[in-house]
Amino acid sequence: MKKILILYYSRTGNTEKMANAVAEGAGRIQGVQVELTYRATPEQLIEFDAIVVGVPTYHHDMTIDVKKLFEEAAVKGVSLKGKVGAAFGSYGWSGEAPKLVLEIMKNKFEMDVIEPPLLIRYTPDQAGLEKCRALGLKVAEKVIKNP
Ligand SMILES: Cc1cc2nc3c(=O)[nH]c(=O)nc-3n(C[C@H](O)[C@H](O)[C@H](O)COP(=O)(O)O)c2cc1C
Repeated sequence: MKKILILYYSRTGNTEKMANAVAEGAGRIQGVQVELTYRATPEQLIEFDAIVVGVPTYHHDMTIDVKKLFEEAAVKGVSLKGKVGAAFGSYGWSGEAPKLVLEIMKNKFEMDVIEPPLLIRYTPDQAGLEKCRALGLKVAEKVIKNP
């Protein structure tokens, strides 16, 4: 059984709605186990075949918890090489956070990332939620294909 982690942060609920839809999409594929959470330690990341991070953009940046998680993982030498990575998030006008997350996954952790990140302005509508489900599905399909 392949394992997918969907780790998200959300202050006003928009990225949370996205995260639920990503999980729903990923859950459509048989043979994957999806865990949806807002807290993870660097060591826990090792257990998963795919790591999908949902982050809203505040002050042109990602949430401090996500930054800390990546910093700690780097300091502890946690290897995420070859794992599937994806990022998404709600934003208002600039939307840097998911781009930054994906950049770190790719360049620092050498993960097998799905580009581009999925960005949705403010609250996702039905079409936006469908895009989230499609991202989840894509992650699950990629994870199943990976050796
Ligand atoms: C204090 C504050 C700062 C923000 N800064 C940015 C920003 O720099 N760039 C951006 O695209 N959106 C910014 N936003 C908009 C949020 O990203 C947007 O409201 C988003 O939907 C929040 O997602 P959440 O409900 O998952 O917390 C900001 C919002 C607030 C309240």
